[in-house]
Amino acid sequence: MKSSTLLALLATAITPIVAISGQATTTRYYDGLEGACGCGTSSGAFSWQLGVASGVYTAAASQAIYSSSGATWCGAGCGTCYNLTSTGSSPCQDCGTGGDAGQSIIVMVTNLCPNNGNAQWCPAVGGTNEYGYSYHFDINAESEVFGDNVVVNFEEVACPSAAVSDYSQCVCAA
Ligand SMILES: *[C@@H]1O[C@H](CO)[C@@H](O)[C@H](O)[C@H]1NC(C)=O
Repeated sequence: MKSSTLLALLATAITPIVAISGQATTTRYYDGLEGACGCGTSSGAFSWQLGVASGVYTAAASQAIYSSSGATWCGAGCGTCYNLTSTGSSPCQDCGTGGDAGQSIIVMVTNLCPNNGNAQWCPAVGGTNEYGYSYHFDINAESEVFGDNVVVNFEEVACPSAAVSDYSQCVCAA
């Protein structure tokens, strides 16, 4: 049995009790707006999204990470953190130049990347995007973080305390 097959079987068996991990595609956006976890204000005052103050970036996650139940506001994934490690490669030749391999960042989920309207990158629960990946992080950052649209290995991690403190300002933290 290929180890990837074994891993897939294990993941299926333990998904209900274990945090999501695996490979995901990434893109980048920067809008300064309140996301689907109620962080910031509708006028755009969202000062801690830069990955500067706390060392943590924020991200819009695809539906399975944001909320496997399909919620689009205050999903269970709001305020969870993931360690993303770059593979250095984009998922296809025409969809990004890739970047450095082996670099890691921590992102906190503060927004949803809905499948509807974003099917190229952001899969529905149980589905895949156009490149065959089940998960996606749209990283909120003003400039490239570790390359252009790199595929990452990701795992859930405990949020650094500064990020937990920042998250307490979000509507969905209440
Ligand atoms: C993130 O993943 C990298 C690569 O596995 C690892 O070296 C690093 O310690 C991880 N960081 C955290 C905070 O878990």
